[in-house]
Amino acid sequence: MRNARFEIRPTGPVVGAEILGLDLATPLDAAEVATIRAALFDRGVVFFRDQKITPDQHIAFAERFAPININRFFRPVEGHPKIAEVRKEPDQRRNIGGRWHTDHSYDQIPALGSILLARDLPEAGGDTIFASMYAAWEGLSEGLRATLSGMRAVHSSRHVFGVKREQTQDGRLANMDAAVQDAVHPVGIRHPGSGRIALYVNPDFTTHFEGWTAEESKPLLDFLFRHAQRPEYQMRFAWAPGSIAFWDNRATQHLAVNDYHGERRLMHRITLEGVPLV
Ligand code: SIN
Repeated sequence: MRNARFEIRPTGPVVGAEILGLDLATPLDAAEVATIRAALFDRGVVFFRDQKITPDQHIAFAERFAPININRFFRPVEGHPKIAEVRKEPDQRRNIGGRWHTDHSYDQIPALGSILLARDLPEAGGDTIFASMYAAWEGLSEGLRATLSGMRAVHSSRHVFGVKREQTQDGRLANMDAAVQDAVHPVGIRHPGSGRIALYVNPDFTTHFEGWTAEESKPLLDFLFRHAQRPEYQMRFAWAPGSIAFWDNRATQHLAVNDYHGERRLMHRITLEGVPLV
């Protein structure tokens, strides 16, 4: 699709689109914001390359789409509390976001999405994989979709951000005491922007189905997690300096590949406020 100022090119059959020809250091007009938003809701994640933007320009771009959600657990960028650091240093083993997840599903009003900007990258590796949860839902049998349509799942931050781990000990994650969020969402959510149904359970934060024990939930949840990770629902994004990924948490899951031990990777993440999910 071509707009007066830019072009939108799909990056795979079901998920992702690259937006070419836009310089995000310059303000966007309302029609451009609407076009990017529509591509985001349709493709689940949009990418921009070679952007030379300051933290203030990153914030200004984000605020065209929704208010910013200030992260409770991630270390902020110095002087810019609205931007969270996603960092791994050469002497650190664990990365941030290295399990399949959708950000903030533990909030009753989960985040719309995040805008991640590459600041410092390893020589090779450190890609991010995105998976379409529209495709995951549509890939289930009609019978299972009908069963899941009446079900809701519980999501929690407690077992992820409320426990001691490498990232809390080295200061990349903080505020363990603030990890008290539990939320209940439909297993298949209707995306508030596109109207399509998306599978909304993820291995990081979903603990069980509402009204079921964790033990009863585990076999079906494990099946859904494995199903959501099928390669045909995925695309893999290789970062370069100045790359930006803007993903929609309701339409996708993502995983940061941890394959660059001994090197530094530093990303700046802004997360946007969402709406209740039904
Ligand atoms: C995240 O999960 O928010 C971080 C993804 C990444 O670093 O690629």
